[in-house]
Amino acid sequence: MEKLKIAGGYPLKGTVRISGAKNSAVALIPATILAESPVTIEGLPKISDVEILKDLLEEIGGKVSISEDEMTVDPTTMISMPLPNGKVKKLRASYYLMGAMLGRFKKAVIGLPGGCHLGPRPIDQHIKGFEALGAQVTNEQGAIYLRADELRGARIYLDVVSVGATINIMLAAVRAKGRTIIENAAKEPEIIDVATLLTNMGAKIKGAGTDVIRIDGVDQLHGCRHTIIPDRIEAGTYMILGAAMGEGVVIDNVIPTHLESLIAKLREMGVYVETGDDRVFVKGTDRLKAVDIKTLVYPGFPTDLQQPFTSLLTKAEGSSVVTDTIYGARFKHIDELRRMNANIKVEGRSAIINGPVQLQGAKVKASDLRAGAALVIAGLMAEGITEVTGLEHIDRGYSNLVEKLSGLGATVWREALSNEEMEQLKNT
Ligand code: EPU
Repeated sequence: MEKLKIAGGYPLKGTVRISGAKNSAVALIPATILAESPVTIEGLPKISDVEILKDLLEEIGGKVSISEDEMTVDPTTMISMPLPNGKVKKLRASYYLMGAMLGRFKKAVIGLPGGCHLGPRPIDQHIKGFEALGAQVTNEQGAIYLRADELRGARIYLDVVSVGATINIMLAAVRAKGRTIIENAAKEPEIIDVATLLTNMGAKIKGAGTDVIRIDGVDQLHGCRHTIIPDRIEAGTYMILGAAMGEGVVIDNVIPTHLESLIAKLREMGVYVETGDDRVFVKGTDRLKAVDIKTLVYPGFPTDLQQPFTSLLTKAEGSSVVTDTIYGARFKHIDELRRMNANIKVEGRSAIINGPVQLQGAKVKASDLRAGAALVIAGLMAEGITEVTGLEHIDRGYSNLVEKLSGLGATVWREALSNEEMEQLKNT
């Protein structure tokens, strides 16, 4: 096990290239199960979630090859192998195996997914969708059993706007008989990306990116080549870092319209942001204004950037309120930021940040992926050395973090944990 050491307080400058979107990748990879010839996905991020999904596809008999940032999946030899335990528990997105395997094999057994602990994360809307398509769904000893004699298109109204449920229902519905209509669908760019892959595979999908998606089922899907969209959350993380410490940071390979809510908030704080076709330039200032943010479904402010943004707000003058309407308990980073001298109170679904304060280096622990990003940003803002543990969370979603930060002039490095530190971690 390792920790990340950060020598903070130094300005950052240069260009950082953004990788393919994690939250697309984790759906695109399971979607390949639906094809009946090889699918190649280009531009994949180098993250552990991708590695785990590769292993899971191999467990069900797929042939997977990875070269650089490209993955080719030959799904022809796959079988409907039950996956009740093991690696499915390591990531949230293993739930996409349910929709994809149900679509292809009409049956699946998948252990309940893991992922970041952000409070309750039910999958009732996924199950509601599968049942509407004609599947029988049961939960037996922590694994979901799905079976259908045939899948039939249906009209499905989502009671909660859910990225995962929207994608999962699409995955099953592309192989159902007849038309499926998903109402109150999520509109995130990752949904359009998955619909684009499925369409290139021969699926008939209309309306992805709006709140009504129409899918006409087809008998067969074929292989294709697909380039993944850039990761708007990774891009947003570097933009926030640029605002906190940047003397001019270019974030390259982005779709700026995916980041409009963040750009608006940064400008409201007094940060200079300039957008180009596929890049964003961010320059920080020493006089940041406090702002309030409320996380909302896309195109609102993303919950996944709420934690990194909180680190930036410690430097703003005045009192800022961050309210998370998606995950009301996504505040595990706050105690760690307090160790670094931040002045933050949590009240219900909101964090109240009083600034400006000068953060101080400390030993902190990442409890989930975006908490990790928040602590890395805080470490780069802080005076002195910060040590971040819990890197397994950060490695799930940030491709080549040390290399990318070093490219901007940061002094960051990974170090093995001592036996004593490992013991301490086990006890916390
Ligand atoms: N919800 C339900 N029932 C469901 C599904 C969701 O009540 O059946 C609730 C959730 O508890 C939550 C809200 O609906 O309050 C939204 O959840 P959603 O299903 O949209 O989230 P998700 O699909 O599980 C994805 C991302 C998350 C991101 C959320 C929101 C993936 C693999 N994960 O999760 O990403 O926070 O959408 O945008 O795509 C991250 O990248 O750090 C991360 C956690």
